[in-house]
Order: sequence, then structure tokens, then C-alpha cells
Amino acid sequence: MLFRLPGVYTPQRDTWLLAEVLACEDVRPGTRVLDLCAGTGALSLRAAAAGAAQVTAVDLSRRAVASTWINARRNGHSIRIMRGDLTEPVRDEHFDLVVSNPPYVPACADALPVRGIARCWDAGKDGRALLDRICLQAPEVLDTGGTLLLMQSAMSGVEKTRIMLEEQGLRVDVAARVEIPFGPVLSSRRGLLEARGLIRIGQHTEEIAVLRAAK
Ligand SMILES: C[S@@+](CC[C@H](N)C(=O)[O-])C[C@H]1O[C@@H](n2cnc3c(N)ncnc32)[C@H](O)[C@@H]1O
Repeated sequence: MLFRLPGVYTPQRDTWLLAEVLACEDVRPGTRVLDLCAGTGALSLRAAAAGAAQVTAVDLSRRAVASTWINARRNGHSIRIMRGDLTEPVRDEHFDLVVSNPPYVPACADALPVRGIARCWDAGKDGRALLDRICLQAPEVLDTGGTLLLMQSAMSGVEKTRIMLEEQGLRVDVAARVEIPFGPVLSSRRGLLEARGLIRIGQHTEEIAVLRAAK
């Protein structure tokens, strides 16, 4: 059971699909793991439980940082927790494995929320505000031979992510994909998403995917 302060993302299907892919990675005591957009720290905990001795969790939200800290303590894991914007707090470091379940939901506007629960999912009109930045920044903090595991919705352009990561010299494949029913956020945006052509008329499921990119 994870501790979660109000306003922090409740781990759900996307979190657990990414955790399943993470479980297939070769994580050893020397593996340096970075969890970008950590939320409750669910993925950091999985990495630590898998044997990684060096796990770093980064999130912009103070409440997420506090939640991750408490979850690390409760589970007896030593996790370095940093508050900041994506890779900014670790820009001079290198990691063997970067995992990220960032905000990727297409929103009404391009301006990102500065607080509140919507900061967990809103990612600009095309859903790519964070994905595009991760495609550029993650390769910089990945060591040679390192791997990025990145979660997103098909609505926010899996091909675009693949192309951007390949342009950074990474080898990319889709490690997992699954169709899930719309939750409350997407259900409330169905009209908007239909009007933008991001979903079919009457669609009420979305495909989420984990991209695996190796440097
Ligand atoms: C979809 S939640 C994922 C949380 C957790 N990794 C999980 O899978 O359950 C996205 C997280 O990204 C964080 N976030 C949003 N913008 C960020 C940014 N620019 N830098 C770091 N974290 C950010 C939010 O605070 C939120 O905790």
C-alpha cells in the first residue's frame, strides 16, 4: 500500500505496465536508475526492490517528493529524492536505466498547470509537452549501453517519440502496449479529442505503450 498525499498521482494501469517492463530489465546492485516524474515513487520502489542500489526519483511536485520519501522509508529502501524539472537536478550525471511515466494527456490548452492534480496528466494540446523534452533530455543522462523506458498514450504520438529518440542515436522498440478504457479525465474530454481527430467518434478506449530506447 503506497502513501499518497492529496494531489499526487494514484499509481494505475500505466504505472503498472511500466513496472512490468521494468521487471524484465537486467537490474543489478550497480545499476543506476533514474525515475523521472516519480509521483508516489511506485517505480523507484520497484527498481530498488529489483536490486538497484542507486535509485534517484525526480518530481516537480513537493507533495510527490514527500510521498516518495515516505514510501521509501516505509519500505526500507534508500532512494535519493530530488525536486525539480525533469533532468535538471541530475544534468551532470549518468544512469543505466531511466524510467518515466510523465504527463501525456492532450489538454484544452498548451499552457501547463502550475499546481494541482492536473499537473500529473495535462501535457499541452498534443499531449507532447513533456514527451518532447524527455526525448531530448533523457539521452543526455543515459550512459552508453543505458536504456530509457517511457510510457505514453498512442494519442500523443508513439511514432513521433520513436523518431525523436532515433534522431538522438537510440535504438527504439515498443516493449508493451495495451488497450484500456477511458478514465474520468479522457471521458470528460471525449468531444475535444474527437474534434481534434485524436480519437474516432465514439471511441472510449485508449492504447498506452511503453517505448524501450537503448543508447
Ligand atoms: C502520470 S504521473 C506519474 C507518477 C508515477 N511515476 C506513476 O507512474 O505512478 C506524472 C508525474 O509527473 C510530475 N511532473 C509533471 N511535470 C513535471 C516536470 N516538469 N518535471 C518533473 N516531474 C513532473 C507530476 O507531478 C506527476 O507526479
